Amino acid sequence: MRVLGIESSCDETAAAIVDSDGRVLSDVVRSQIAIHAAWGGVVPELAARDHLRGVLPVTSEACRVAGLTLDDVDGLAVTVRPGLAGALLVGAEFAKTLALATGKPIVGVDHLVGHLLAVFLTRGEAAPTRPGFPFVALVASGGHTAIYKVSGPLERDVEELGGTRDDAAGEAFDKVAKALGLGYPGGPVIDRLASAGDATRFAVPRPMRADPSLELSFSGVKTWVARHVEREGAPVGQALADLCASFQRAVVDVLVDKTMRAARLAGVGDVVLSGGVAANGGLRARAKERCGAHGLRLFVPPPASCTDNAAMIAFAGAARLAAGERDGLDLSIEPRSRIPRATVKGRGRRR
Ligand code: KG4
Ligand code: ZN
Repeated sequence: MRVLGIESSCDETAAAIVDSDGRVLSDVVRSQIAIHAAWGGVVPELAARDHLRGVLPVTSEACRVAGLTLDDVDGLAVTVRPGLAGALLVGAEFAKTLALATGKPIVGVDHLVGHLLAVFLTRGEAAPTRPGFPFVALVASGGHTAIYKVSGPLERDVEELGGTRDDAAGEAFDKVAKALGLGYPGGPVIDRLASAGDATRFAVPRPMRADPSLELSFSGVKTWVARHVEREGAPVGQALADLCASFQRAVVDVLVDKTMRAARLAGVGDVVLSGGVAANGGLRARAKERCGAHGLRLFVPPPASCTDNAAMIAFAGAARLAAGERDGLDLSIEPRSRIPRATVKGRGRRR
């Protein structure tokens, strides 16, 4: 089975064709970073307008790269939650129009399920090793940060074990980069600067680390850096690299500690990292070290699968279609995920 996926939940317009084994036949991503960079974050109205410009060209390109036409695909998958409402609407209405015109089945996909299954995508490798169900996965991106137990490929197989009480990890990278005058998005530049810095120079706090729950919090780390800059001025040279390294180490320590704890509590042997922050060199290295020490297998998809893309959406859709699930043309978007939250924003653990 071959599925065309469409993704437009945030600031990437993407289309991809993937088969039900996870083979990526095409994967086209049109980033809006240049549009939002001037504002230091994603502007919802500008995002929706640009998805409208991009959705048809990326879909045509995905077909061209795969050497296929819409006739050759067996179904359509589109991100319907969570995300920016206006942005989601563009992809969903476009995909429904394609379904109506072609008569192909359509399924809506939760973007987080896409991130959780991105580890199953293959991009030309001969015999990829894949995690077995159930596994524990950390999804850390600009909009979400939570730890899940994944017992199968469908949304109902996904259980959130804990998440952030406030900012997402990627959001912390982006806000710290803004405070340091490093531009948007912040993750890649902080990652690069941190690799030349001394992570022990500044005592950045590690919120929630000692707390036995699987909850996370990143707004305090961001505030600590902002206060430091207010007090001492924006650092340059080695001091900047050391501050980036110290901040990154604090975030990574908490993410890895909680993920390891989740794997132990869930009794699983396989651990997966996903979302844009999983591209972070410090996170990958520390997770590898800790999983190795505890006899866990670690799976980290390549960056193209970790950051927002439509291949993961197509694959999650293929799993729904294979299970006999279908949506109608009344399929609608929702800003929030339906996966029950273990941690409620601003309030902590759901009781
Ligand atoms: O998954 P993604 O592409 O989009 C969302 O769904 O948000 O993640 C983007 C986020 C941004 O906050 C960006 O700063 C962060 O991922 N990011 C990184 C790195 N590359 C991207 N964070 C830390 N280190 C990186 N190398
Ligand atoms: Zn995402």
